Amino acid sequence: MRVLGIETSCDETAAAIVLREADGAGHILSNVVLSQLAEHSAYGGVVPEIAARAHVEALDTLIARALAEAGLGFDALDGVAATAGPGLIGGLLVGLMTGKAIALARGLPFVAVNHLEAHALTPRLSDAVTFPYLVLLVTGGHTQLVAVSDVGRCERYGGTVDDAVGEAFDKAAKMLGLGWPGGPAVEKRAARGNAAAIDLPRPMVGRSGADFSFSGLKTALRIEAERRAPLDEATISDLCASFQAAIVDCLVDRTGHGLQRFIEETGERRPILVVAGGVAANSAVRRALEGFAESHDARLVAPPLDLCGDNAAMVAWAGAERLARGLTDSLDAPARARWPIDEIRTA
Ligand code: KG4
Ligand code: ZN
Repeated sequence: MRVLGIETSCDETAAAIVLREADGAGHILSNVVLSQLAEHSAYGGVVPEIAARAHVEALDTLIARALAEAGLGFDALDGVAATAGPGLIGGLLVGLMTGKAIALARGLPFVAVNHLEAHALTPRLSDAVTFPYLVLLVTGGHTQLVAVSDVGRCERYGGTVDDAVGEAFDKAAKMLGLGWPGGPAVEKRAARGNAAAIDLPRPMVGRSGADFSFSGLKTALRIEAERRAPLDEATISDLCASFQAAIVDCLVDRTGHGLQRFIEETGERRPILVVAGGVAANSAVRRALEGFAESHDARLVAPPLDLCGDNAAMVAWAGAERLARGLTDSLDAPARARWPIDEIRTA
């Protein structure tokens, strides 16, 4: 089954073709992503109206490129999948309308994909992971621990009560004058700094449940930065290293609570822990989770970097997984700015 996927929920315009074999194996035939970084960097964040217009301008060409790179025409497709939410409504409408139009014109089944489920199902495409597994989803907009027991069966164990972890990285970088997006910039500076130099809080650590909180950490960073102003290069690096270390501690602690519940509920002896989303590109985060998994007899799966950030292969794949189960959506499926992962329709 060959599925075209379209992703326009935030600031990446993306199109991809994925092949799902009858036995469930997945192959990426093409995966084209156009980042709008340059359009938004002057504003220090994503501007919804600019994003929507940029999607309109780029999407047709990207879909043509995805087909060309896969060596396929529209005739070779078995379905079309587009992200319907959650995300910025203007961008979602662009991708959703385009996907529906192609499906209608070509008489193809259509799938309205939940962006979070697409992230959560990615390890089945990249690493042929089997259900059930626990996902730590860490992006610019979301920070959640989700138990995935089947397509459309995701249980949210916990999430952030304030900022998403990627957002915290982005705000820290902005505060320290490191530009946007912040995660890669903070990671780069952290490599040169001393993580023990500045004492920062670890919000939620030790608490029961699997929720996260990062706004107190962000405020603490601001106070420490103001106290040391004007900042020299070495201090900026120390602030980044200390901040990143605090985030890593929070992620590991909350994941520990989530994994404990997952084991209790599933009885898995060697539980699978997946880390997905843009922040999974952070090597300190990956290293810490590897150590955590090893000491908890868990198997850590971290999809390759180009599948961790926003992309359309994950959308095409989520579409293929749904189509393989006979799950399709009608052409009046709405775009949804808010669409929690545990409110996905399964039948
Ligand atoms: O999943 P993603 O590409 O987009 C969504 O938010 O859905 O994630 C982007 C986020 C941004 O906040 C970015 O700063 C963060 O992931 N990020 C990182 C790193 N690379 C990207 N955070 C920390 N370290 C990184 N190396
Ligand atoms: Zn995402």
